[in-house]
Amino acid sequence: MNKPVSVTTLRQMKQSGEKIAVLTAYDASFASVLDEAGVDAVMVGDSLGMVVQGQDSTVPVTMDDMVYHTRLVRRGCKRALVIADLSFMSYATLDLALMNATRLMQAGAQVVKLEGGEAVVEVIQTLTALGVPVCAHLGLLPQSVNKLGGYRYQGKQSDEAQGLLREAKAIEDAGADMVVLECVPAELAKQISQSIAIPTIGIGAGAGTDGQVLVSYDMLGISAGHRPRFSHNFLTGQSEGITGAVAAYVKAVRNGSFPDADHTLA
Ligand code: KIV
Repeated sequence: MNKPVSVTTLRQMKQSGEKIAVLTAYDASFASVLDEAGVDAVMVGDSLGMVVQGQDSTVPVTMDDMVYHTRLVRRGCKRALVIADLSFMSYATLDLALMNATRLMQAGAQVVKLEGGEAVVEVIQTLTALGVPVCAHLGLLPQSVNKLGGYRYQGKQSDEAQGLLREAKAIEDAGADMVVLECVPAELAKQISQSIAIPTIGIGAGAGTDGQVLVSYDMLGISAGHRPRFSHNFLTGQSEGITGAVAAYVKAVRNGSFPDADHTLA
């Protein structure tokens, strides 16, 4: 077996220009398919609220849900790094963040993910100082959908773009180990990726990020709702089934053929 992936591995991949392939999983069987197909990190996303639970947003997902699914996913992973989401409002205060990050790490997470930039700087500083690796999440923040008024691209106006560049720097300075950039114009995502040393993992953010993540149900064409435009069904026309679809995704991310222009907002 190859060496288990750590946050250091991902940083080295960024430095050497090797693209990072990430997918979501919510149970042990799926996680083990992703792990064996060579995915670098498995994300236990609160997207499970939509694709597993059939909710219309991630807001109803609880920490109990996240802990349960993190425990299952960790059992399926031998090599891939396990990143798990802190659920809506579970890091609204430092005390809550400490308690809930502890729960996720003890369930098997190796990195905790939280949404926001300057608003969560203190949380990131505190968690990372105490030995908890953190993945930040900028751009479209699904947990803030009610405040944003919908699932829309972020950073299209120049003041918003400047704000995202500033926030990326702030979360890096706070000690974050990596950052997801969701639904950000490709040129801006590339600029952010070049301006910080920590890996950027894009979703709907073009090919200029250091890695890519998709919701596994979307890339297999089995999402409960509609599949986002930036996603791609890797199962269609695949003779090797799900394992083949995941391997095709890893290959396409590594060689830069995904995302292409059809899956990118310029
Ligand atoms: O919840 C999730 O699955 C996510 C990824 C899609 C980035 O946040």
